[in-house]
Amino acid sequence: MTATTTDTDFIHVFEPGSDPARRPLLLLHGTGGDERDLLSLGRTVAPGASLLSPRGKVLEGAAPRFFRRLAEGVFDEADLKRRTDELAEFVLWAGERYGLPAPIALGFSNGANIAAAILQQRPEILAGAVLLRAMTPFSEPPRAALTGKPVLILSGALDPIVPKANAEALAGQLGASGAVVEHHVLPAGHGLGQGDIDLLGGWLARN
Ligand code: MLT
Repeated sequence: MTATTTDTDFIHVFEPGSDPARRPLLLLHGTGGDERDLLSLGRTVAPGASLLSPRGKVLEGAAPRFFRRLAEGVFDEADLKRRTDELAEFVLWAGERYGLPAPIALGFSNGANIAAAILQQRPEILAGAVLLRAMTPFSEPPRAALTGKPVLILSGALDPIVPKANAEALAGQLGASGAVVEHHVLPAGHGLGQGDIDLLGGWLARN
């Protein structure tokens, strides 16, 4: 059963898992999404995993996001830093409340960008991350110790929002901090397809 809960300052869904061997997933939606968007993807790619799915608190018009941007691909980094800490504290709270170990983030687009920001600013919060159509969140990333943390980045060769070089730069930054990065560029745009699902299901089964 899933229920949307508002007993912290993040509206969120928590769906308890049935397989304790699976790491919980922290699901982070894209711009205009909400806490329900990635639940079925999470169930498909990590059967039996607990799912924790917050709704971004920043509104762009009516569209929820996880942090403010000044233009497409141009981020308000002061807000990003603050929102990254706020989301990290929520994940710690939820870990206590629901009895969870550190989760693997599974983020899409804006959700992938804040997942990358958590890795770089609060590396202790996550056991790893799947970053779908992510870009570098910080112009000058904090030095994180990510030794051995697994990270999967799936980019689209035809993505009009994330330039190829930017996704490569993110993979380079995380790898230089010690993460075990697997980066695939799919023949796709910004949207997700079956190729993403196959790759990420396989990766999650190994991590
Ligand atoms: C962002 O603002 O995080 C990126 O431009 C991706 C998006 O949400 O469109």
